[in-house]
Amino acid sequence: MAIVSLCSTKGGVGKTTLAICLAASAARRGARVVILDADPNGHVRAWRDAATREGRGVGIAVVAGVTESTMQDRIAEAAENHDLVLIDLEGAASKAVTFAIAESDVVVIPSGISGMDLQEVFRTHAEVKRAEKMLRRSIPARVVFTGSATIKSRVAKHARQEVSDGGVQVLDTETIRRPNAYQAMHFNGLTPLDPDGDPKAAQEIDQILDEILAVITPAEETA
Ligand SMILES: Nc1ncnc2c1ncn2[C@@H]1O[C@H](COP(=O)(O)OP(=O)(O)OP(=O)(O)O)[C@@H](O)[C@H]1O
Ligand SMILES: [Mg+2]
Repeated sequence: MAIVSLCSTKGGVGKTTLAICLAASAARRGARVVILDADPNGHVRAWRDAATREGRGVGIAVVAGVTESTMQDRIAEAAENHDLVLIDLEGAASKAVTFAIAESDVVVIPSGISGMDLQEVFRTHAEVKRAEKMLRRSIPARVVFTGSATIKSRVAKHARQEVSDGGVQVLDTETIRRPNAYQAMHFNGLTPLDPDGDPKAAQEIDQILDEILAVITPAEETA
């Protein structure tokens, strides 16, 4: 069982998109998956409604309306009967965010590759570090670059270097900017992982999920 928070102090960096796609990837592997929607805007709930209407999103549970006061209980309940708990957070620092970080096996920090985005990566990572100090346990965090113009672009390479130099680890796989693949889900529930989705996007999402799960269960432990 794994608890994964999608977290950034910046809005619009791809948290919700990644939460839904990672859930779809895990569900396709037969895992029992739940997304906790902890953003007051309820974007995951909206996706679930659209998906249900279109007969998609099968095998992905959604718990909507998770708040600061219910976060810990909802996570504990979700963890009881799911293999993967994904927590979609709002794009700001809050107590709900701190509580989610505190319960997480890994914190995923989606980010664009601009300088301003990187500042927010460090701010978000500082929140994780604060939680680590408070709890006296280590909480792994990984940045994932989202919406890059091309695979391993020069700018992305610089961004990767700057984040690594700042002491934050970055996943190898990034999501490429693919409006057709990623932006339909809010209208019709279609994720890249669906049979009529986008295979290239699905592949990058599968790889990102693999990398996240490897943080929680390193290969040598499973060997
Ligand atoms: N790889 C991608 N290619 C193209 N569009 C993308 C990609 N990733 C995300 N998007 C789009 O970027 C926008 C912001 O993404 P998303 O809603 O997932 O971000 P967020 O971090 O959850 O934002 P918020 O903080 O407002 O909740 C959405 O319109 C989404 O469809
Ligand atoms: Mg969101």
